[in-house]
Amino acid sequence: MSHNHKTILLGITGGVAAYKSAELTRLLVKAGYTVQVVMTDAASEFVGPATFQALSGQPVFTNQWDKRIANGMPHIDLSRDADAILIAPASADFLRKLSHGAADDLLSTLCSARDCPLLVAPAMNLQMWENPANQRNVALLRQDGIAILGPGCGEQACGEVGDGRMLEPEQLFELVENFFQPKPLHGKQVVITAGPTFEPIDAVRGITNSSSGKMGYAIARAAIEAGAKVTLVSGPTALAAPMGVNRINVQSAQDMLQAVLQQIGTADIFIGVAAVADYAVKNRSEHKIKKSDADLTIELTPNPDILATVASLPAAPFCVGFAAESQNLLQYADEKRRRKNIPLLVANLVQNALGADDNEVILLDDAGQHPLPRAPKKQIARELIRHVAEMLASE
Ligand code: PMT
Repeated sequence: MSHNHKTILLGITGGVAAYKSAELTRLLVKAGYTVQVVMTDAASEFVGPATFQALSGQPVFTNQWDKRIANGMPHIDLSRDADAILIAPASADFLRKLSHGAADDLLSTLCSARDCPLLVAPAMNLQMWENPANQRNVALLRQDGIAILGPGCGEQACGEVGDGRMLEPEQLFELVENFFQPKPLHGKQVVITAGPTFEPIDAVRGITNSSSGKMGYAIARAAIEAGAKVTLVSGPTALAAPMGVNRINVQSAQDMLQAVLQQIGTADIFIGVAAVADYAVKNRSEHKIKKSDADLTIELTPNPDILATVASLPAAPFCVGFAAESQNLLQYADEKRRRKNIPLLVANLVQNALGADDNEVILLDDAGQHPLPRAPKKQIARELIRHVAEMLASE
């Protein structure tokens, strides 16, 4: 659990997607947010307030005349305590009300009385979303500086397929997190490599390693949170791309190098997190190698070093390397930094880092060593991005 002291007022309006807001509440509470749920009457037809009360650990409000607030002004008290209001799901009717400043129930009244940011996650059928009147209302909300999250595209409860469904709880959670992070990389372009590479032996077999991609993906997400445009060149992993990231899937180190070189022209920062295979198979077979009793020799040939190649480009971006060692961490890592001529290197122990959810690293730069104690990769990633932004700002 992170130490997050933000309060989100989660407004739930009438839509089937209200059931997804139960999961969203759980994700926010788990990350340390205080979640204050306010529901419209229509929302309570879909999911009962007791569900949200149990998940948020807070009383749920539905009624403007609720006697539990001593001064009789729940719309003022509730909006005053919130760092942000998120309406999810936001029905077409609620968008209409918001865009016209309506104040005829608790949720619409507290939205009009707020002095904090408002985020809305529309959820409706395709035709309702595309309806010109609805689009006019959405445009008005945008003009008023209200953040419209989504909607997503896909299968809908009514059986149609298209735009209009609410974003998934994990996506909304990511967007809320992004919203609260400082933006020191605003306007910067970042290219990140992540995961393992896969060096084919024949049509079905290959050499790879146990990098999960978690560290690289966490850094991609932290860079997005910090306001950057991010391209993630990823070897094979089981992870979903963070929202807003341009992911390019690759297999071998050669593919990874080509993809990186195509993207690097306009990049300000390059972060090499991938566990790139040092060797590729030289005598690779087009077809599946047949089993036989004879010995089989696989010849290996060195792969290009992607990080060193990028660092030696004439207009090289700010380069960050990783060093995964199983012993003599600082000595080997420092040698790597000097050999590859990069300003910042992140040293970690293979046994701590590979595949794990946590990591423990030492940042090495010209100023010396900066240890980041064991923490979830998400937190290590945020601290690394903060360090990179500070180094860039002082260049
Ligand atoms: O993916 P996870 O399970 O979350 O694990 C994270 C990690 C352990 C893979 C990650 O934290 C890490 O340490 N990545 C670098 C692993 C590595 O291969 O280090 P290296 O010492 O071999 O390479 C040094 C640097 O050069 C790295 O930035 C690497 O991306 C880069 N490199 C290496 C070889 C090569 N041919 N091209 C490269 O660009």
